[in-house]
Amino acid sequence: MSTLPRIQDFDDPSYNPFEAFDGAQGLDIADVYGPISQWQRQALVHPIEYKCLFGLPPDVTTADMRHFTVFGYDLAQYVYSHPEIFSNKIFERMLGPGFGRTVTTMDAPEHTQFRRIFQRAFMPGVVAQWGDSFVQPVVDDLMKPFVDKGKADLVVDFTSLFPFHIIYRQLGLPSDDIRVFHKLAVALTVAGVDVARAMEASAKLGAYYEALTEARYAQPGGDLVSALTQVEVDGERLPKDVLISFMRQLINAAGDTTYRGTSNLLVGLLTHPDQLDALRRDRSLLPAAIEEGLRWEGPVMIGFRTTTRDTELGGMAIPKGAAIHVVNGSASRDSSRYEDPEKFDIFRKPGARHMTFAYGAHVCIGQHLARLEMTRALNALLDSLPNLRLDPGMPPPQIRGCNMRHPQHLHVRFD
Ligand code: HEM
Repeated sequence: MSTLPRIQDFDDPSYNPFEAFDGAQGLDIADVYGPISQWQRQALVHPIEYKCLFGLPPDVTTADMRHFTVFGYDLAQYVYSHPEIFSNKIFERMLGPGFGRTVTTMDAPEHTQFRRIFQRAFMPGVVAQWGDSFVQPVVDDLMKPFVDKGKADLVVDFTSLFPFHIIYRQLGLPSDDIRVFHKLAVALTVAGVDVARAMEASAKLGAYYEALTEARYAQPGGDLVSALTQVEVDGERLPKDVLISFMRQLINAAGDTTYRGTSNLLVGLLTHPDQLDALRRDRSLLPAAIEEGLRWEGPVMIGFRTTTRDTELGGMAIPKGAAIHVVNGSASRDSSRYEDPEKFDIFRKPGARHMTFAYGAHVCIGQHLARLEMTRALNALLDSLPNLRLDPGMPPPQIRGCNMRHPQHLHVRFD
């Protein structure tokens, strides 16, 4: 442990990747679902990049490609179910400069080979044990400063922090340098607007994670990195470069998503006090509430693929090498699958599985962890903050964003 180097900040420590990240998310845009349902009624496939439909600039890493945006449940499911036509290789450009050779950038057979090893470390039975060891201590610690104050901004004080702190603990990162780790991790994802910074962050995190994995190979402990260095399927282990790339991906994959998913669920509940009351009284409703929050306002609006050959989607000819933008959010609100899809309703009859974790070979590997984190967070908030309600003296929360969606504030009061 003591031999680990200190993580290096950017050469220019004043660089703020959060601005670039927020800019790329289109945070000014609140209503995405109104325009989406209009476009979807016109055609299921539009020959344009998703974010350009909203007037945002194109992604620089895919500027030379033709783009197609795909709406609706059936086509999303079709694209995600045919990886031989719709390949993840597009992520070599979009995320490769930051993350490196990670499962997200791979297709079968390479993807299948590594994914089954990672998956073993994220099986529901393994994840369930993290509830007490990693999740609950973080949830309890973060609530302490506001639990007696009668009011809080649940985004600033809680949801924007807890999944990050959980993954830092799971990786065993030093708490003094957490701000630097977070900055570097966010910069990994801004390759679409700043490739040089993504590569700088990649090298710096890579050097640290290399030393960390070496230390855990030599002396395994009870942390996630140790588990990933030991996990094997049929005698096969993860190559070091794939493991390090996965670790680079984890802070964003686990933090950015769960933070937004939990925030959006809380908005749904707090703006529907009857449903919040019902949940407060009967916690067996929580799994359905979590799935409804993820369906209603999934934090990841969009998935990407590239075509391996000429093909056709929704009656439109698509050339080989095109970029496909699958609008997960339109699939999860498709009226052919859900009654009153715009409505937040935790009593909704069980229906089609939402598309918030995508579908098929690359379906979210961390979904069991995300559900566990949301469960622990919601139970703790409902147990410790009696009569939790929106603060009537503060602006109501607004979920915003074109690519990733969340409220920036969630002002609440409690007794
Ligand atoms: C509400 C929370 C979350 C949401 C909405 C979410 C969403 C997604 C989506 C949509 C994908 C599919 C990407 C694709 O099709 O290419 C994905 C993949 C992935 N997620 Fe999550 N995620 C969440 C939480 C987590 C957590 C907690 C982890 C931590 C382990 C995680 C790790 C991953 C990884 C490693 C992949 C890549 C899987 C592969 O390509 O085989 N996610 N996630």
